[in-house]
Amino acid sequence: MSANVLVVGGAGFIGSALVRELATSHEVRVLDDLSTGKAANVEGVANVDLVVGSLLDRALVAETFKGIDVVFHLACLGVRHSIHSPERNHEVNATGTLQLLEAARAAGVSRFVYTSTSEVYGTATSVPMPETHPTLPHTVYGGSKLAGEAYVRAYHCTYGMPTVVLRPFNAYGPRSHHEGDSGEVIPKFILRAMNGLPPLMFGDGAQTRDFTYVEDTARGIAAAAVAPAAIGATINLGSGLETPISELADLVLESTGRTDVRPEHRPPRPGDILRLLADSRLAADLLGWRPTIDLGTGIGKLLAWHREQGTDWRVLLDEDRERNWEKPTS
Ligand SMILES: NC(=O)c1ccc[n+]([C@@H]2O[C@H](COP(=O)([O-])OP(=O)(O)OC[C@H]3O[C@@H](n4cnc5c(N)ncnc54)[C@H](O)[C@@H]3O)[C@@H](O)[C@H]2O)c1
Repeated sequence: MSANVLVVGGAGFIGSALVRELATSHEVRVLDDLSTGKAANVEGVANVDLVVGSLLDRALVAETFKGIDVVFHLACLGVRHSIHSPERNHEVNATGTLQLLEAARAAGVSRFVYTSTSEVYGTATSVPMPETHPTLPHTVYGGSKLAGEAYVRAYHCTYGMPTVVLRPFNAYGPRSHHEGDSGEVIPKFILRAMNGLPPLMFGDGAQTRDFTYVEDTARGIAAAAVAPAAIGATINLGSGLETPISELADLVLESTGRTDVRPEHRPPRPGDILRLLADSRLAADLLGWRPTIDLGTGIGKLLAWHREQGTDWRVLLDEDRERNWEKPTS
């Protein structure tokens, strides 16, 4: 890819991994309002220019698109946010995507890569789940991401925009979120284990997820900008391995050396998805993509990254919220 590249949401967890992947060979502009991302996630990465502002700010977006050929759109407000603030979630995820597409059309971009999510499927009706699996999201987040997909497809079909839709399954790795309503299961389990506290499972722990290490996910997203056959396609990015949350808890406790601690159960979360398992054969065919890092290795790499950072687990625990789908009180 010899292009000027924009990553919207590039200061977030997956976005900052993608920025690192792209910045080895490109000048990368990032647009991010830092609502859940951090400037520190991209600070010190060569060839990166961070523009702080919202994708809903039309004047700023038009300015930021100047000279851009390829757009990666990863900005979003997340699944737990959608439970306490559904309208705002829709505004950023669905309306925001439509506004970005309009800006991309005006700028005449050569590729628009939209990062959707496996949450658009709802719970699996059969496994593994190919891209043709029914899309019956459980949450406003899943619905708003699906609306975003529909707009991306519309810009391809109506205006001939070269677009790609990706559906990553659960990602984990460096810079993943443990905090507030962004907190994800792996960083939350690790945070509690490192503080000698039991991982908390909502429901019976039999729910399954398909976990992918973030560097694998980012490589798949980057590949979507250059693969000619990907244009107009919708593509899963998942490991093809199904892990029950109860097994994940045991793996985290083993990896952190806290087998003295046992997981605890809490009542189920609203809208929780029971089963997810990707069929990623299309990603292999169209992008030449295969995940390379298995879950045990990935958790080990994440713990090693934290050691290098000198993470203070006690301090991070203050940012953990148990019922993180409820509106924050402060
Ligand atoms: N984390 C996962 O497991 C996962 C799985 C599947 C799909 N995804 C998708 O990947 C993308 C990135 O997710 P993530 O986990 O890195 O989340 P994240 O919260 O770390 O990243 C989202 C980024 O968007 C930014 N943002 C939010 N609202 C904005 C606005 N109005 N204007 C500009 N920037 C804004 C945030 O500050 C943040 O940096 C999302 O589109 C998400 O739907 C994530």
